[in-house]
Amino acid sequence: MIEIAGLSKSFNQNVGRPSIWRRIAGRPVTRRVTALKELNLKIGEGEFFSLLGPNGAGKTTAIRILCTLLLPDAGVCRVAQHDVVKDARAVRRMIGVSIRGERSVNWKLTGRQNFEYFASLYGLPVDHARDAIKIIAEIVELADRLDDYVETYSMGMKQRLAIGVSLVHSPRVLLLDEPTIGLDPNGGGALRALLKTLVRGHGVTVLYTTHYMHEAEELSDRLAIINNGEKVIEGSPSQVRETLGDGRVVELQVARNDFDVRKALTDHPAVEELLSHDSSSTLDIYRVKTRDEMASVATLIADDRFSGADIKSINQVRPSLEDVFVSLTGSTITENGDVRTV
Ligand SMILES: Nc1ncnc2c1ncn2[C@@H]1O[C@H](COP(=O)(O)OP(=O)(O)OP(=O)(O)O)[C@@H](O)[C@H]1O
Ligand SMILES: [Mg+2]
Repeated sequence: MIEIAGLSKSFNQNVGRPSIWRRIAGRPVTRRVTALKELNLKIGEGEFFSLLGPNGAGKTTAIRILCTLLLPDAGVCRVAQHDVVKDARAVRRMIGVSIRGERSVNWKLTGRQNFEYFASLYGLPVDHARDAIKIIAEIVELADRLDDYVETYSMGMKQRLAIGVSLVHSPRVLLLDEPTIGLDPNGGGALRALLKTLVRGHGVTVLYTTHYMHEAEELSDRLAIINNGEKVIEGSPSQVRETLGDGRVVELQVARNDFDVRKALTDHPAVEELLSHDSSSTLDIYRVKTRDEMASVATLIADDRFSGADIKSINQVRPSLEDVFVSLTGSTITENGDVRTV
């Protein structure tokens, strides 16, 4: 349903404040930033596909090219066989899109007026629009608030409305750029539940972007992790997790004392790499990728170099998407989407 082949895009960005002479000459200092580098993806009909990556990874750029807002530098994108550059009108008819969700609806109108506005943009006959609005308002759980002004809606309701209006012309493909940003955990959960019913019940193909690992894990049939504009891995969530190998991720919980657990772990011959380090009030929790399976766990505990450590537990754990991301990129994604080295 969606095909992306060799897609590349870069931008000129102004850097700092140019000197007075450059400004007079109208020559700002710029640098070239690669947003997407030869991206290849194939997304099947009815599939829920996530692009997972940190801030600046190229997620929004990919969505903007697919929805015909931005021209690629190189490569081909097709939606249901229609080329996004050569056949942009046909593509626009097939897709619903929500970028910067809650800002894409008009807060000074009611929910219903927003629906009617989008329905008229797509040229839907009035009675057809009325029926569609009724059905979609139920799906996005706004039926009882349709005649209230959007400015009185919660953030989650605005996001649901943004998704609702993008569905008014019955698109076969839905492009959603980070729709849960700014929602509290309840609002995020409600939106994800809504998306699941949409895809499972109505056969819509969804391309979804997020920097939240748990969302990609929960929602996706398949996902691709992108970093610095490049795809680093692709597959179903379990296929992606399994690339770390069975039984090779070990989690240690260690009571905090003067002993340098981090150094002992990274120096340890059985440890291939440190995947994460979190702290609670009394415990430090480390996840490591070991060089091989069971033997490594035993070696870690028994080893002399840990005699100063107060190890509370040590367990083989199922690899997470976060573990895979760290293993492939050497860094992790923070709650607000930034990249941080482990
Ligand atoms: N219009 C633009 N002009 C200049 N640079 C841009 C423009 N749009 C994107 N970029 C740059 O391209 C890179 C990818 O940006 P993009 O917005 O696609 O990332 P993203 O994955 O959506 O991240 P986020 O939304 O979290 O910032 C970034 O380095 C960004 O600064
Ligand atoms: Mg973005």
